[in-house]
Amino acid sequence: MIISFVQTKGGTGKSTLAQCTVFSRALRKRFKSIALVELDAQGTLRNWWDERAEEGRKSEGVSFHHISSTQKEVFQEGIKTIAAHNKLIVMDIPGESTGRLHTRFACAFSDIAVVPMRTTTNDEAAFANNLYPIIRDIITMAPQKKHNFAVLPAFVHPKTSKAKLKAYYEEILPDHVFCLPAVYPARAVYENFNRNGMTVSEYASTVKSNKRQAKQAMAAVKDIEAIAEAIMEKAGKSNGNS
Ligand SMILES: Nc1ncnc2c1ncn2[C@@H]1O[C@H](COP(=O)(O)OP(=O)(O)OP(=O)(O)O)[C@@H](O)[C@H]1O
Ligand SMILES: [Mg+2]
Repeated sequence: MIISFVQTKGGTGKSTLAQCTVFSRALRKRFKSIALVELDAQGTLRNWWDERAEEGRKSEGVSFHHISSTQKEVFQEGIKTIAAHNKLIVMDIPGESTGRLHTRFACAFSDIAVVPMRTTTNDEAAFANNLYPIIRDIITMAPQKKHNFAVLPAFVHPKTSKAKLKAYYEEILPDHVFCLPAVYPARAVYENFNRNGMTVSEYASTVKSNKRQAKQAMAAVKDIEAIAEAIMEKAGKSNGNS
C-alpha cells in the first residue's frame, strides 16, 4: 500500500504529517515494516532521520529513504525497489509550485493521496487550479482510482467543530474527492517536537513533568492517531471499491 501526502501549495504540513503518521500506532499495528520516503530534494526529513540515528533512537519497523532525483524514471524505480521490501510506503511529496512531476506520480501510484488543506482562499485556489486538474486527468484515464483522494482539513483551530468543517469541505469539493473524518489542528508542538530527531510520542514523554506542554503533546499524539486511523479506514474502502 502507498499513502502520499500531496498538495502543490507549500507549507501545508505534508512533511510533518508523513513524519508523524509513520510512527502512529494505527499504522504500526497493521504493518510490520513501514518505509518513509522523502521525495523532496530539500531533505528536511533526511536531516531529522540522521539526527535520530545520531541520538541512538530506535525506529523498529520503520525505515527511511530519500530519493532526491527529479527524474521520473529514477524515483519510479526507487519506489519499486522499496515496495518489494515494505507492505506500506508513506511518501512525503514536495510542494512544487512548478513542474508537479512528483505530485502526478504520487496521485497516480498511491492507494490514497491525502491532501492537507487549510480553509484559506489560497489553499482552495491552489487545489482547484493546480492539484485538482491532475486528479481529474488520472480519474479520466483510470476511473477505478476515483476513491483514492482525500482532503485533510489542516491547521485547524483546536476548538473548531470537526463536523462543521467536514460539511464545509463536502460542499466545496468535487464529487470524488472525499473529506477525511479527522482534522490536523494547528499546534505549536508540531513546530518543535522533532528536535534531536524525536517523534511526537518521544517528545511527549520528555515533557511529562510540565503539565501544559504535556497536555499539548498528548493532544498532538491523539490528533495523529485519529488521522492515521481515518486514512487506514479510507484506504481499506478504496481497495474494496477498486
Ligand atoms: N499542525 C501544525 N501546526 C502548527 N505548525 C505546523 C503544523 N504542521 C506543520 N507546522 C509547521 O509548518 C511548517 C510547514 O510544515 P511542513 O514542512 O510539514 O509543510 P510541507 O507541506 O511539507 O511544506 P513544503 O510544501 O515546503 O514541503 C513547518 O515549519 C512546520 O513546523
Ligand atoms: Mg515538505
